Amino acid sequence: MQDDTKLAASVEDSLAERFGERLHVDPALNGLDELARIAGHRVHRDFLDQPVEPALVRLLCACALSAPSKSDLQQADIMVVDDPDQRRAVIALMPDMPWLAHAPVLLVFLANGGRTPQLARLRGKPFPNHHIDLLFNAAVDSAIVMTTFMRAAAAVGLGVCPLSAIRDEAARVSDVLGLPERVIPVAGLCAGWPAKAGHITPRLGLETTLHQDRYRQGDLDRQIDAYDRRRAARHPHARQRAVERWGQAEFYGWSEDKARQYAEPLRADFGAFLRAKGFCLD
Ligand SMILES: Cc1cc2nc3c(=O)[nH]c(=O)nc-3n(C[C@H](O)[C@H](O)[C@H](O)COP(=O)(O)O)c2cc1C
Repeated sequence: MQDDTKLAASVEDSLAERFGERLHVDPALNGLDELARIAGHRVHRDFLDQPVEPALVRLLCACALSAPSKSDLQQADIMVVDDPDQRRAVIALMPDMPWLAHAPVLLVFLANGGRTPQLARLRGKPFPNHHIDLLFNAAVDSAIVMTTFMRAAAAVGLGVCPLSAIRDEAARVSDVLGLPERVIPVAGLCAGWPAKAGHITPRLGLETTLHQDRYRQGDLDRQIDAYDRRRAARHPHARQRAVERWGQAEFYGWSEDKARQYAEPLRADFGAFLRAKGFCLD
């Protein structure tokens, strides 16, 4: 009971730090240890120089691939990138993240839109479904599998960081990994034993992202301002982005950072990559 009270308080504390709002957690709830890990989530980019056993990675992958799958179609795969040459080749395609070289585990979560048409070929059936839903379903399945991997990893004490940077050079990643038609990387993920505790990153308030019955837009500008202030009070940005273009801001919050980030074209060639891999985007 003592432990449950502590776990309940830990969930409350994490969520208060995350959302700036205190939610009551009943110590009699089941699964508080899992809720505490979920509420206390933080990515890790710093790892101990200590290997992660391949058998453990395989176990976590099997747990991740136990995730639900749209229509039971099973359109997500995981690539374990273990061979040193393959690792170097993939990491070289994400040059802004040199810390990846020290991550014991590198995975790529794949959306596989190729298997379902193959079932049609195998069983002599038509496949009138080459439209964007094929891609969307596979990408959603892949994201769910990755999320489940993250939960499994957190349960055994591993730290992880997803890597959308894997899509910066999607075509070259696809070549290095030998991805067939209609199989694409959704995100990479590195994992290892955390070297630091890390910290909880505040999120937009629940008044912005939690809706009831009908979408409520509210006073979004005010909510974003309030979030910027709440977040900066706990974790101010260490550096300002693209100062040469936008100058030094007196107050630099999350919204300024994201607006600057998306003031540059990013992955504008991704649609062309998807089409080249055989997906239809209509
Ligand atoms: C789909 C996805 C892709 C991400 N890609 C990257 C990435 O390429 N590089 C990186 O350093 N962090 C990446 N992240 C981590 C986010 O930056 C991180 O989740 C965010 O800053 C919030 O921090 P928190 O997860 O600790 O709350 C990614 C996260 C997600 C969910």
